[in-house]
Amino acid sequence: MKPSDFKMPLLRTKGLSVINDRICHLAKYVTPEFPFSFPAWNHPDIFGNSNPVKIEFCSGNGQWIAQRAIDDPSTNWVAVEMKYGRTRKIWSKIKNLGLKNLFVVNGEGESASQLYFPKNSVQEIYINFPDPWPKRHHERHRIVKTSFVKIMADLLTENGTVTIVTDDLFYSEWTLKTFKDSPDFISNIPFPHCTTDWQNYGNSFFEALWREKGRSIIYHKFQKAMK
Ligand SMILES: C[S@@+](CC[C@H](N)C(=O)[O-])C[C@H]1O[C@@H](n2cnc3c(N)ncnc32)[C@H](O)[C@@H]1O
Repeated sequence: MKPSDFKMPLLRTKGLSVINDRICHLAKYVTPEFPFSFPAWNHPDIFGNSNPVKIEFCSGNGQWIAQRAIDDPSTNWVAVEMKYGRTRKIWSKIKNLGLKNLFVVNGEGESASQLYFPKNSVQEIYINFPDPWPKRHHERHRIVKTSFVKIMADLLTENGTVTIVTDDLFYSEWTLKTFKDSPDFISNIPFPHCTTDWQNYGNSFFEALWREKGRSIIYHKFQKAMK
């Protein structure tokens, strides 16, 4: 199947949230006429089982998460990607590889997590190569920020973790500072709380791109703090 084989559901064309054929399309606005409540992960429209759930935000074309879903079939994997075209690329991987344990959410990660995803329901969160938005006045566009860090803490189960990977030194420092300022997380990696050596992490489209250009890849991992 090609990404273009995915046909946008009618409700989505009207701007409404809908789950259809392993994609959940989230509308920007929920209207009182068409309220939308996201079902539990074990609902038959999503995974239909109670295996642990791991989420990747900013999945792009889904290369990394599709491989993880193949390698780890007893985990339920959720890709969250806001671009429709990239969502369709993930969908075609699900179809072509027959991945019953991969589900895609086409929407913005922070609002999806805050409004829809069940709290205390996710074991691990991954963000691979988030857009760095280096200019100061674009800061609000960065997915790693104080508000989202709090939302991720609410989403995670006890001892849940967040792994963030970037090629961008500035974004690495920004990530370390944002998590250091949060009472909800501690770093899982000894000082300087990041590493460029993580064997068998998996490969993504942007990872290959930056490695080809000779850039170092920087990995961060934080664990939800015990309260
Ligand atoms: C640089 S790409 C990285 C894609 C992929 N992780 C990889 O490593 O190849 C960043 C992706 O994040 C998506 N994105 C950016 N902000 C987002 C957000 N707030 N919620 C969901 N997706 C987002 C973009 O649409 C884009 O596909």
